[in-house]
Amino acid sequence: MTASAHALKLERIACRFGATRVLNGVDLAVAPGERHAVIGPNGAGKSTLFNVVGGKLRPDAGRVWLDGADVTGCSPHVLARAGLGRSFQTTRVFPSQTVLENLRCAVWCGVVTSRGDRRVRTPLSVWALWWRHSNAVAERARCLLAELGLEREAHTPAGVLEYGAQRRLDLGIALASGARTLLLDEPTAGMNRDEAARTIEWLRRVSVGKTLVVIEHDMDAVFALADRVSVLVQGCVIATGTPAEIRADTRVRDAYLGALFDEGLR
Ligand SMILES: Nc1ncnc2c1ncn2[C@@H]1O[C@H](COP(=O)(O)OP(=O)(O)O)[C@@H](O)[C@H]1O
Ligand SMILES: [Mg+2]
Repeated sequence: MTASAHALKLERIACRFGATRVLNGVDLAVAPGERHAVIGPNGAGKSTLFNVVGGKLRPDAGRVWLDGADVTGCSPHVLARAGLGRSFQTTRVFPSQTVLENLRCAVWCGVVTSRGDRRVRTPLSVWALWWRHSNAVAERARCLLAELGLEREAHTPAGVLEYGAQRRLDLGIALASGARTLLLDEPTAGMNRDEAARTIEWLRRVSVGKTLVVIEHDMDAVFALADRVSVLVQGCVIATGTPAEIRADTRVRDAYLGALFDEGLR
């Protein structure tokens, strides 16, 4: 597959903090509509890799391609316009705004972003855009609310939601932007087993047709969600394959999964 046929393609991404090399030539290729999990031990460089792809960090070397376009070093807002969305390892919602307001705001940002700079430069053009789209924004936010199973909490301030619901809202906000490719950093972090399983099931449903790249620790979640898995260890991808191939890979078992099994984490 050429770079243009991939939703996301990374070529030899390298990144260091001072003298510490965190990413050492990462290659990754994700097809449109694929659900790709990135797994690896703590400190392997997974979040750093997302920061490079998401435009928060500029790589020291290597290239990032999004839908065939070279977006290396582009800022997060340019990437958002190019169809990339992301959620973070820690939840980011507006805590004093209600659940519905958070979703409306995210859908509205998606509308503005998809228009690019030219048509929303002046306050008048923003107002005109709002006048035309406000009903559709409200409708989409209501749909998302139902998809998230948060209808009863619609008017609850996001900051007082219980943890699992707050994480789901965070994911809903990432989806609301209408991005084609989503980077999700540990979407089930801090959830209990039941909540994690429900969240993964929900993600499967709502992400149909989108490309997902997901950092995930919970191996049950990885194997339930991912079409393919890449294993990052010390800033290098040591294996990429289907969940079954990864489970059977002796290098992966030695470097990562074996340790997880030994620690009784699953
Ligand atoms: N901003 C930073 N400055 C210095 N070191 C960092 C920074 N961010 C991450 N690191 C280091 O980079 C390594 C990889 O971190 P991270 O990408 O968060 O790993 P992971 O998400 O796989 O657990 C760790 O050793 C971490 O301490
Ligand atoms: Mg991390």
